[in-house]
Amino acid sequence: MSTTAVPIYLDNAATSFPKPEPVYLALDQFARTSLANPGRSGHRMAKEAERTIELARSALNRFFQGESANRWIFTLNCTDALNIAIKGSIQPGDHVITSDLEHNSVSRPLRRLEKDGVITLTRLESSEGYLDADQVRLALTPQTRLVALTHAVNVLGTVQPIEAIAAIVREAGALLLVDAAQSAGVVPINLKSTPIDLLAFPGHKALYGPTGTGVLYVGRRAKLRPWREGGTGGDSKSVLQPEELPFALEGGTPNALGIAGLAAGIEWVTRQGVEQNRLHEVALLQRVVDWVEAEGSGYGWNVAGRWDAASHVGALSLITPNLDDFHPQVISDILDTSFGIAVRSGLHCSPYIHQRIGSFPDGTVRLSPGPFNTEAHIDAFLEALQAISVGIL
Ligand SMILES: Cc1ncc(COP(=O)(O)O)c(C=O)c1O
Repeated sequence: MSTTAVPIYLDNAATSFPKPEPVYLALDQFARTSLANPGRSGHRMAKEAERTIELARSALNRFFQGESANRWIFTLNCTDALNIAIKGSIQPGDHVITSDLEHNSVSRPLRRLEKDGVITLTRLESSEGYLDADQVRLALTPQTRLVALTHAVNVLGTVQPIEAIAAIVREAGALLLVDAAQSAGVVPINLKSTPIDLLAFPGHKALYGPTGTGVLYVGRRAKLRPWREGGTGGDSKSVLQPEELPFALEGGTPNALGIAGLAAGIEWVTRQGVEQNRLHEVALLQRVVDWVEAEGSGYGWNVAGRWDAASHVGALSLITPNLDDFHPQVISDILDTSFGIAVRSGLHCSPYIHQRIGSFPDGTVRLSPGPFNTEAHIDAFLEALQAISVGIL
């Protein structure tokens, strides 16, 4: 029951920690040898920085089987990628389909556009954390330009049937934007076989890059207006932003250091195997689900959403015994200060799903193990929960 300097970190859905060793090595090496401005100057260091970025684009293209490396845009984070996709593709009068499973980085830009009278919006209602592809089919209209959905829900960890949804959206001629913040790196995504037009994800979660990295894939059918224009390194005499990708959407100095780390993360995940990390994390969460069933429910703990290990990533929300008396925030504070365990409580930037499952406005306690967590970490979490439960009741 001692607080350690580095906690038992169970908050990988927010950002992954620790990073694999090759990521730390790549960051250190790049920072010491190549941290020049890529594409801006002709000297060797700048060229080396540019080469690192182009290799990272190629690695992404191989990993997700995209059409070409230049369709991968580096962004600040997933929110940035989603905003570029949403605001760059929408026209006044469009209809957009989304769901109650979304993070605010999808919900807020869409709600703003709806409130300003630019779009009409349909928000699909999930059941136990899942959407059915037929809900999308029924909501499509001739005016639907964009369907913007999450692949894996950050609050619950539930994975949506994105292949079936993609086929339906493509048949209808609309664009599909997938928020893969919680799935990229742990659930296979193959852009050759799944017609996704816009794929957004952070570099800093299950691809193990540092914070400050994000990615947007722009498919052939998506024509995006840039909303950030500026220097791109090349063609400076042109008075307008270049139209070709990736530069059309990449004004300003990129996070070359972060991208160098991300490239090492992608390589590590490739060696590790995508399914391998998910299976490890889900096996750890299974211990929590088993504890809730065997003992935790007796104290009033509940798993939020339907637990199905086959369609789950490594995030799980627990509904606390008594929302009125014992806020999730209090539980996570006790876990942090008394037990040295880092989890995330509250609404997780996703208010609609908490409204759907009845945990609004206090939210839930979410734990999200990563590849470096062990059964001993989960057992320490469960012992702490048991102790807290006994203390409360
Ligand atoms: C589902 C989902 N979408 C988007 C985001 C936003 O990611 P970022 O913090 O990289 O902008 C998150 C972050 O937790 C997320 O879980």
